[in-house]
Amino acid sequence: MDTLSQLHTSAEATNSGSPHATALIKTKGLVRTFKSRKGTVEAVRGVDLEVREGEIFGFLGPNGAGKTTTMRILTTLMPASGGTATVCGLDLRRDPAKVRRQIGYVSQVGGAEPMETGRENLLLQGRVYGMSAKEAQQRAAELVTRLDMDDFADRLVKTYSGGQKRRLDVALGIMHHPRLLFLDEPTTGLDPQSRARIWDEVRALHDQGMTIFLTTHYMDEADGLCNRLAIIDHGQIVSQGSPETLKQEIAGDIISLGLDMQSNAVEQVTSLMRERPFVREIQPTADGAQLYVSQGETVLPEVLRTLDAQHIAIRSVMLARPTLDDVFLRRTGRSLRESNGNS
Ligand SMILES: Nc1ncnc2c1ncn2[C@@H]1O[C@H](COP(=O)(O)OP(=O)(O)O)[C@@H](O)[C@H]1O
Ligand SMILES: [Mg+2]
Repeated sequence: MDTLSQLHTSAEATNSGSPHATALIKTKGLVRTFKSRKGTVEAVRGVDLEVREGEIFGFLGPNGAGKTTTMRILTTLMPASGGTATVCGLDLRRDPAKVRRQIGYVSQVGGAEPMETGRENLLLQGRVYGMSAKEAQQRAAELVTRLDMDDFADRLVKTYSGGQKRRLDVALGIMHHPRLLFLDEPTTGLDPQSRARIWDEVRALHDQGMTIFLTTHYMDEADGLCNRLAIIDHGQIVSQGSPETLKQEIAGDIISLGLDMQSNAVEQVTSLMRERPFVREIQPTADGAQLYVSQGETVLPEVLRTLDAQHIAIRSVMLARPTLDDVFLRRTGRSLRESNGNS
């Protein structure tokens, strides 16, 4: 193999989302039922997942969809009722202890002890993972600096703001350099600034090569942060892929043109665009026309050039994209926003 193709191959292998990358999580038909006096709840109903090394993978779904249950199974905290799963190449059922050493887990509520300081929590976590006191101190100091916790690391955790607490939770999760980090709703309930900080930190971990599996019920989080995602509803995956692919499957993009309504511009645009392969549909609007197209950002210049060549005046132009909520709506018949009670 020559140098160039070697380089190419290794670049491909580390490229997040590449089908060549190793699967760090693989599940097949994962099921979890809960029995209670009121009957049986099927929280997870046959989940097939593949999370590849080096990606930020999102698990998006409304409250009660089965995200936490799935995550607790994958982190060995709860047995599945059925199905199989490997995590970091290890069978969950046969090798739970080995799995635990390779992963970090930040639960929805976090695990910090409120009556100790952040630094004390970190030191204890280090010792739990078998670090010497000195190693733990060094690693804690490193994380305190890195996550900007100097101002509060030596205060009791019970005095922390939500954002400060969340940063400590993340630090606890990565104390032992896990290969794969699980974050359960890392930004729920945080103010926008604290959310942005957590996003930055997740991206920084990803840049260092950590694989991240996070759950969220915020579609902007899934969209902006994740390389790939699975949408889950009522314990079943309804869609899986990159945010771009998922949105493109749905409707394509919408180019809205504002036209001179005194002229016959709308008819002209319609006849010029109707036969173009990338145009799926044309709809007249109150002030012009809407083109439903595939890959709007690529075809927009061509649309504008064509109309310009025919001296059709364009008053305004807007490119709109379907959102992940449109994807959720199409697959489930409900809006994600409404399913979450507007949260
Ligand atoms: N220990 C339990 N006992 C009974 N039902 C449970 C238990 N844990 C979760 N559930 C139910 O399973 C479903 C999925 O819950 P969960 O995984 O927490 O959803 P999410 O994290 O997506 O909000 C919900 O209907 C929830 O009420
Ligand atoms: Mg949950």
